[in-house]
Order: sequence, then C-alpha cells, then structure tokens
Amino acid sequence: MGNPLRVAIAGLGTVGAGTVEVLQRNGDLIAGRSGRAIEIVAVSARSRAKDRGISLDGFDWYNDPVAMARNADVDVCVELIGGEDGPAKAVCEAAIDSGRHVVTANKALLAVHGNELARAAEAAGVSLNYEAAIAGGIPIVKALREGLAGNGITHVYGILNGTCNYILTEMREKRLSYETVLEDAQKLGYAEAEPSVDVDGIDAAHKLALLASLAFGTTVSFDDVYTEGIRRVSLQDIDYAEEFGYRIKLLGSARMTEHGLEQRVYPCMVSKTAPIAHVESAYNAVVACGDFVDDTMYQGRGAGAGPTASAVVADIIDIARGFATSTFGVPAETLQQVTASPIERHHGAYYVRLMVDDQPGVIADISAAFRDESVSIESMLQRARSQTEAVPVVINTHACEEAAMRRTLDRIEALDSIVEEPTMIRIESLV
Ligand SMILES: NC(=O)c1ccc[n+]([C@@H]2O[C@H](COP(=O)([O-])OP(=O)(O)OC[C@H]3O[C@@H](n4cnc5c(N)ncnc54)[C@H](OP(=O)(O)O)[C@@H]3O)[C@@H](O)[C@H]2O)c1
Repeated sequence: MGNPLRVAIAGLGTVGAGTVEVLQRNGDLIAGRSGRAIEIVAVSARSRAKDRGISLDGFDWYNDPVAMARNADVDVCVELIGGEDGPAKAVCEAAIDSGRHVVTANKALLAVHGNELARAAEAAGVSLNYEAAIAGGIPIVKALREGLAGNGITHVYGILNGTCNYILTEMREKRLSYETVLEDAQKLGYAEAEPSVDVDGIDAAHKLALLASLAFGTTVSFDDVYTEGIRRVSLQDIDYAEEFGYRIKLLGSARMTEHGLEQRVYPCMVSKTAPIAHVESAYNAVVACGDFVDDTMYQGRGAGAGPTASAVVADIIDIARGFATSTFGVPAETLQQVTASPIERHHGAYYVRLMVDDQPGVIADISAAFRDESVSIESMLQRARSQTEAVPVVINTHACEEAAMRRTLDRIEALDSIVEEPTMIRIESLV
C-alpha cells in the first residue's frame, strides 16, 4: 500500500455527507482498488453543530473553507458547497493555487468559470475532476474523456435534469397539471422551493455546456446555450404527443453544424420508439454518438446523495491511482472558441397547437400563413367544434428552418381568430 491520499471536504450537505459515508463504508474496497487508503483529514461547513447522520470524529474542522483549501495538509480538496461564485469558487482557486487537486460536483461554477479554472489547474499541474457535475451518478465524463477518446463525437444529448423529467413523467402518468405536480414535487423534496434553476432549464444548460466542451474540444460557452424550460408544457400537449407516438422530454443537445456549435435545452417531442423516451421519473440519460462507435447510451440516477457521491469518490480514486487527464479532454489552452449556431438555424419538424375561435375561414387563414412562409404541413387536426369556446387546432409540420417557423407563427398570432399565444414544440428525430 502506498501513502494514504489526504482529502479535505468543503460542504457537508447532501453530497458532502454522502461522500463521507461512501469513503467510510467502502473504505477497504476503495483502498484495495486505489492501492492506498483515502483519508479524510479536514472538513468545513457553515454549522458545526448540525446533525448530518455521519461521524466527523478525527477530522479537523474549519469554519472557513478557503482557509482549509489553502492550509490543511491535504492532497485533494473536494468542493461541495455549490454556487457559481462565492466560497465555492474561492475554495477551488485557493486549492489550485496551493497545488492541491480539486474534485467538485459544481456544474454552475464550471459552466461559468470552467475555462479559467481548467487553465489554472493545468498550469499548477493538478487535476480538476467533476464527474458528479453532469448527470450525477452516470460516468459520462469518463465515457467522453476516456472510453470514447478515439471517436469524433457527432452528437451528444440527454435528459440532464431529474426534476423536470420527474414532473413531465408525473404529468403524463397521473394526468395532472404542471402546477399540481410541481407543488407535490416540492412537498416531497424533489423540487426546490425556488424551482427556476431546474424548471427553466438552467441546470440542464450548465451540464450541456460542459458536455459540449468535452465532446467537441471547445471552450465552455454557457452563454451560448439556447435555453427553454418546461413551464409552458401543458397536459393537452402531452396528450397530443402520446396520440402522435411521441413523449415530451426536456433534452439538452449539442452538435457541431455548418453554422457553428449548436447547444440547446428545450422540451421536445421524441418518438416513443427512441430508447430515451423511456427514461422516466428522476432518471437521467446521456447519448453520445461517435463516428466509429455509433450511438452509446448511459442511464442512471442524476442526483441524490448516493449517486452523486459515487461520482465524487470515483474522481478521488483517479487521483489516488495517479491517473490524470486534461479537464475537458484536451489541454485547456487548445480548446477552440467557435461560433454559436443561432436557434433560428435549427432545422426540424414542429408541433404547433393553436387555440382558435371556430369561425368560417379560420383554417384557410392558418394554412395561408404556412404557405406564405413555405412551411409544409404534415398533418392538421381539429376535432372539437364550439360556437362559444376556443378550440384547439393542432398542426405537425415537415422539417423546416426555425426562422420560417417563427415567421409563420408571427403571422398566425396576428389573426383575429387566435385567442392565445401559439404553442410550438420541436419534434426531434432521434433513433
Ligand atoms: N444534491 C444533488 O443531488 C446534487 C447532484 C449533482 C450535483 N450537485 C452539486 O453538488 C454541490 C453540493 O450540493 P448539495 O445538494 O450537497 O448542497 P447542500 O445540501 O445545500 O450542501 C451545501 C453545503 O455547503 C455548506 N456551505 C454553504 N456555504 C458555506 C460556506 N460559506 N462555508 C462553508 N460551508 C458552506 C453547507 O453548510 P451547512 O450544512 O452547515 O449549512 C452545506 O453543508 C452543488 O454544486 C450541487 O450543484 C448536487
């Protein structure tokens, strides 16, 4: 056995306490696999008195996690505080500056400051590992950085936020509204009291920005991720999707196109025959397509103490084994800065639901808007009829450019017979 690897942990919440538990409970098997023991030496959180369900006996306690990152006699500093700035960033910077390896689960921090942190870590000759930051327990960073390293990646996409997938699954299975499911999810602890980072797609966008950098060797460019959340997905649309053979999923998707790097997070319809359509509830999944390997899919729990700590510990074990690689798969200074492909260049089919006053001529007016923008209609459905209430008209298009689809909707929205903002959901063609 070699010398023990000495570790400090900043943040003892869900993931921090989970990490302590994995290292304590599986200590022997981890030491056997690493060739050396992994010893927690120091910890930091806000409240020393809080019961965390774990023993902190024998660990040095620091009130200030930055002082710990700088001064504790450790090889690795594990940052599990969270947040894109503040103490989390200061901890990582102090650890790198003091020549310590860093492990973090913090996607927000890396999505915003990943380029500079990666450069600093590589200049200092230390690792910056973040397996837990993308899709929790799924080892997708390892898959892209190691297992698929011989491939050019053509497309990477996935269900990257368990809260949104849980809400969409419950809406469909229990036939409940978005608002009702969100409220239940908050009571059960599956959604935050302030849910916007999840339901507005921001958390998925943080993860997608990291995936894109890993897959395409580009600088992390979170600001270029086009992001729409799930607040506007209605039960009615979920029902129509079912009827047409689709499921609605919040997908993050990145690919390199002739117009630049496409990075998108939005709710979309995916065929029920696609494996990802069947990833339900709080599960995450990532599909990485390589030019030689073809499609590979990884599925598992994207959050929670156990799955996330599992990924954190795997990163620590890599360091214990002496395994190191560039943060985003290539040296940080060689990451390419590329043009972002605007959403208007998106090319695909669309589902459109209009709520209309059922007057003579309304269908002709709607059809004319599509014709005038050269958007080809695949099917149009108007089932209900009413003299007094608005009725839905549902249209599926053939593939077209989003700019044309948006112009079509602008024309339609200006019609007197349209009583609410049209709903548009992209139809993804996935295998
Ligand atoms: N939860 C998940 O399932 C999950 C999944 C993937 C990634 N992540 C990421 O993992 C990280 C941690 O998430 P979490 O869910 O474990 O968060 P959490 O439960 O809120 O825990 C945060 C911890 O940080 C400590 N902390 C906050 N401010 C501090 C400060 N100024 N100094 C020292 N300690 C401070 C807190 O101390 P007290 O306990 O004393 O308040 C707490 O122990 C985040 O980046 C998150 O995005 C989480």
